[in-house]
Amino acid sequence: MKKVFNAYSSYYNLLYKDKDYVSEADYIVDLIKQHKPEAKTLVEFGSGTGKHALLFCEKGFQVNGVEPSAEMLKIAQSNSHTNLSFTHASIESLALAEKFDVATALFHVVSYLNENEELINSFRNIHKHLNEGGLFIFDLWYTPAVLSQVPEKRTKITEDDHIKVIRNATPVNHWNKNIIDVIYDINVFDKENKEDYVLSETHNMRHFSIPEIELLAKLTGFEIIKTEEFLSGETPGPNTWGVCFVLSKV
Ligand SMILES: C[S@@+](CC[C@H](N)C(=O)[O-])C[C@H]1O[C@@H](n2cnc3c(N)ncnc32)[C@H](O)[C@@H]1O
Repeated sequence: MKKVFNAYSSYYNLLYKDKDYVSEADYIVDLIKQHKPEAKTLVEFGSGTGKHALLFCEKGFQVNGVEPSAEMLKIAQSNSHTNLSFTHASIESLALAEKFDVATALFHVVSYLNENEELINSFRNIHKHLNEGGLFIFDLWYTPAVLSQVPEKRTKITEDDHIKVIRNATPVNHWNKNIIDVIYDINVFDKENKEDYVLSETHNMRHFSIPEIELLAKLTGFEIIKTEEFLSGETPGPNTWGVCFVLSKV
């Protein structure tokens, strides 16, 4: 189980403060209403700090968030709702007796699964935790966009009343593995103590083509019922970094 998110977690919500979790949750709920309108229970893999999970609860779902990073989980658990619970596990290791109507893995969680074996085991375990006809909805890095845009070094600066965070992201492309290592060098300036704190972590991100996911779905007992650009619903192409898949358990 990867632990890259443990140090990063303290700054995660600040780094992604402009991410529109509300529109994303609305988009996912629309997909669920289209393809499984009777769905009531949802398991969210890689639930991170729990933002989508809480929104899904507010929209009437009973939600279990599954997260391997203890630190991300701690932040998630500060969200409270009667229909919200969290489990400390990875996709591969989850072993609940309960089955769900829908599984989600949002904000590129599947791209963190790098090896074929890991992907097969993960999809099989998700299949095991779904009711008959259950949906698995996820978004991931899309190969045509990654190869035509080729990631470059980027800097993100963000702050609140207490800290200023400067994050440099340096990509290393493993052309023959479909993996980009994104090396994050993060400098945190504590405004009260006037002290700097530096941390570094690498996120290994795999990108996928549609036929690859088709193959994986077939191998693990799913069929693809929708493939589109995440949020816009457009047909994926060389400018579509994030593609959303809706799979159904067969
Ligand atoms: C980019 S974050 C997304 C978090 C959250 N879904 C969101 O939208 O804010 C990726 C998350 O995937 C989790 N993750 C990475 N590998 C995982 C695995 N094998 N099983 C479950 N979660 C995993 C990380 O711990 C992290 O919380």
